[in-house]
Amino acid sequence: MNKNSQPGGRLRRPDWSSVQLVPFRKNFYQEHPSVTARNPQEVAAFLASKEITVKGTNIPNPLSSFDQAGLLPAIQQTIQKAGWSTPTPIQAQGLPMALSGRDVVGIAQTGSGKTGSFILPAIVHIAAQQRLARGDGPICLVVVPTRELAQQVAEVAQQFGVPVNVRNCCVYGGAPKGPQLRDIERGAEICIATPGRLIDFLEMGKFNLRRTTYLVFDEADRMLDMGFEPQIRKIVEQIRPDRQVLMWSATWPKEVRQLAEEFLHDYIQVNIGALQLSANHMILQIVDVCAEHEKETKLGKLLGDIMQEKDNKTIIFTETKKKVDELVRKMKYDGWPAKGIHGDKSQQEREWVLADFKGSRTPILVATDVASRGLDVSDIKFVINFDYPQSSEDYVHRIGRTARAGASGTAYTFFTQNNSKQAKDLVEVLREANQTVNPKLQMYADSFRGFGGRQRSRWGNGGSSSYGGSSSSSYGGARGGGSDSRRGGGDSRVSSSYGGSSRSGSRWGGYSSAGASAGATNGSTTYQPDR
Ligand SMILES: Nc1ncnc2c1ncn2[C@@H]1O[C@H](COP(=O)(O)OP(=O)(O)OP(=O)(O)O)[C@@H](O)[C@H]1O
Ligand SMILES: [Mg+2]
Repeated sequence: MNKNSQPGGRLRRPDWSSVQLVPFRKNFYQEHPSVTARNPQEVAAFLASKEITVKGTNIPNPLSSFDQAGLLPAIQQTIQKAGWSTPTPIQAQGLPMALSGRDVVGIAQTGSGKTGSFILPAIVHIAAQQRLARGDGPICLVVVPTRELAQQVAEVAQQFGVPVNVRNCCVYGGAPKGPQLRDIERGAEICIATPGRLIDFLEMGKFNLRRTTYLVFDEADRMLDMGFEPQIRKIVEQIRPDRQVLMWSATWPKEVRQLAEEFLHDYIQVNIGALQLSANHMILQIVDVCAEHEKETKLGKLLGDIMQEKDNKTIIFTETKKKVDELVRKMKYDGWPAKGIHGDKSQQEREWVLADFKGSRTPILVATDVASRGLDVSDIKFVINFDYPQSSEDYVHRIGRTARAGASGTAYTFFTQNNSKQAKDLVEVLREANQTVNPKLQMYADSFRGFGGRQRSRWGNGGSSSYGGSSSSSYGGARGGGSDSRRGGGDSRVSSSYGGSSRSGSRWGGYSSAGASAGATNGSTTYQPDR
């Protein structure tokens, strides 16, 4: 796609009113007798115990087991094979909602099984439609913000689709078009796509959405924010208006709610847990209020502790691509097994770096927000926010890379004065999850009271971010000023504060033999943040 032109500028909006639409079925939900038999008090108690809140009219009751969902026997078998013994809360309520053919908004914590909540009903939906004819596009389209997430959702579509002959194709930028087009031509009932390449194929006439009746936005708030809105509009225009639309995320900021409603019709919503912004409660959240120039030393010390743990898979988030490269270079120089991932790396490199991380050949991944949403690496134990993210939603998604599917994990966050605008939101997230609030953080939060509440530069400044694309991120905000003092005093600080433990000759020593003792609870280390 020509970056200077409007996304999808060459795409014409079909005049749906003049098209004879072939009717299709979208309600597949038949309440199981054991669900019908539950009295309202039992249902209410179940909803309360799982912290399920619903909004809208005629919402089906939740399930307590997968066999109440009326899924195909082959899907049921795959669920068993995957070892999913009971539905997670979002699945318990989200499956009947999605199967009933309604437009759905599903909001639930990171790592709580949202992918299954939309893929399983997609397969039921597909199985009931006419078979694809030659040249037909997908029946289910899943739109996601990043390439890696597209590939991951495609794996789930593959896992559940293959036993019932439901094929998928994965459409994303940075990889050769040929193989993706071949998959499309062969016929794929499910397409998982990032917006740029999808629009590209639509413009080329290689692909069409005339058969699409089940439309999913995973990470829906990210897809609707200012960075992606024009592409999303273009894509939605190409799909028949009586489609079923489903939106999923762990966060649902009010800035996108109204916009979302433009794409939804008489929708129903389910929230799991708190209705305000909230993190997964299985994560121990530690916030270290520090100065910019202290971060590298602190990171070194922290890694020294973490790497002595048996389970030590760690993801480190930075604000910029440049910082990812810089940290990886320094860490490698000092012998840490680290690799980096960001939007300026070739797709091939992104894929092998992630594969190495998943396969534990490289236990430390340094990343921009390209890795903050949706990625499911089951054994990540630690998340480190080297730079505080642009928004509190990003914070929740980033730390959600740990503690997946009921596991626990620890998140460390370096928070500087430059981030103080975000302190109030962060304190609220910490309190909601019953975490200790660092008094210095509380001080920042207090000093920003009365300054108009939530501040999110990403919503306010035109949506620049470090996601997948090729635009370079801004270097403003959190990094200002700190780098100078780091250059001036970094190394002396290392040796004075962690006396003797830094490696001689190391460019940013201090972490090699810092006295860690393993075995802290909840996977945390002995690292003591500056409080
Ligand atoms: N019912 C279940 N029982 C056990 N494990 C499950 C169940 N459903 C899903 N899982 C597993 O939980 C993990 C997380 O699922 P998934 O990636 O769908 O979470 P998510 O809610 O989409 O998270 P995020 O907000 O980060 O995208 C996956 O490894 C998945 O296989
Ligand atoms: Mg997900």
